[in-house]
Amino acid sequence: MTTTLRILSIETSCDETALAVVEYDPKTKTYTILVEALNSQIDIHKEFGGVFPTVAKREHGNNLTSLLYTCLEKLADFSNTPIDLKNINLDFLTREQELKEILKNELEKEDSFIKHIPDIDYIAVTRGPGLEPALWVGLSFAKFLATLWQKPLLPINHMEGHISSILARESEIAFPSLALLISGGHTEVVDISKWGDYSVIGKTRDDAVGEAYDKVARILGMEYPGGPMIASRSEKVRGQISVGEIQQKKDSIGIKLPRPMLHSHNLDLSFSGLKTAVLYLVRDFKKAQSIEALPEETIDLICHEFEDAVAEVLVSKLTFAYREHSQKYKNLIVAGGVIANDFLKERIQSWCDDTGIHFLKPDKGLATDNAVMIGLAALVGLNHGYVKILKCNNTEFIELKPDGDWSLNTI
Ligand code: KG4
Ligand code: ZN
Repeated sequence: MTTTLRILSIETSCDETALAVVEYDPKTKTYTILVEALNSQIDIHKEFGGVFPTVAKREHGNNLTSLLYTCLEKLADFSNTPIDLKNINLDFLTREQELKEILKNELEKEDSFIKHIPDIDYIAVTRGPGLEPALWVGLSFAKFLATLWQKPLLPINHMEGHISSILARESEIAFPSLALLISGGHTEVVDISKWGDYSVIGKTRDDAVGEAYDKVARILGMEYPGGPMIASRSEKVRGQISVGEIQQKKDSIGIKLPRPMLHSHNLDLSFSGLKTAVLYLVRDFKKAQSIEALPEETIDLICHEFEDAVAEVLVSKLTFAYREHSQKYKNLIVAGGVIANDFLKERIQSWCDDTGIHFLKPDKGLATDNAVMIGLAALVGLNHGYVKILKCNNTEFIELKPDGDWSLNTI
């Protein structure tokens, strides 16, 4: 392959609607983000204290077309191929009535963007894992565009997207590598022997790390998503007093949380017990003090203790994985929304320094869900020849459905 490859990618697996155009240049072996557009539904889901799938689906439908236009306008690069209006097939949008109406209106306009074929080679879309109603919107939209523009479709695994997010920073990765994926829906330890060959060697038995952050934040009276709120409160504690003083304060009011599965001698993780421990700690503290609301400083200290527990557990699992697998790994890749957390990044960095393993993490903007990572995974899959390339209107293309539980093991 000698020419550049360009992908339009679409991500709608949870509460971020995102599109991007990314490019790979085989001469320089570099990946470039040409344009990206993202709409977060966080403010809408805050009301519900978490992501509500049918609301997410509705919002994706409302946002996709305008985000596409933002991307195409910025890209400003259209092919000379005239659009063949016989390729319009709104049947792919039967499940998505609102989106269908929006697109129908666009198609009736004389000079709509959608009627100009952009200069891209493929359309990549998240097929799973994620919330199925949300995945359906992105997939249906991608099928519609692929048919209209006669571009092949690439179904992409969201977790492979998180792994690939590091490519925006470092384009060549040595294998075998170990990956720790920490997001709102997943917590997995993955052995990667090469691109496209993933083996999940450990995962949570219950809640994901991000989910635990969100639930603990809720118990402590904070808004969704909890990760950034807990992070800033514990950061405040770290910035104000020394480690010894923090411990003294915690001891004096009985703030101690468990480190679940710390000594389990396997790569199983569990975070629901940690969340329940916070619930009991808060209940007992209020009862003992006869108070309705926790003092702000107590909340800060609980956040700090929670982060300490998470960090200790994650680092111990990395140590176990590294030891059990004959220290073979060349890199540690940590990806997913939770690695936006500076404290966890520092803790993992110092573990990597002690272990002598290279730490790869996404740029901050690419840690949480985005479409760039989906485009990067598509490019990697094309470069290494394992991604499915679905031609418009063949049976597999027509029958393609989302898979809310799509495991990395079955890519
Ligand atoms: O990867 P992601 O955007 O979505 C999923 O695929 O699930 O991850 C979202 C999760 C949320 O649970 C959020 O609370 C958490 O990432 N998160 C953080 C931080 N920023 C986002 N957790 C800890 N510290 C942060 N700074
Ligand atoms: Zn994600």
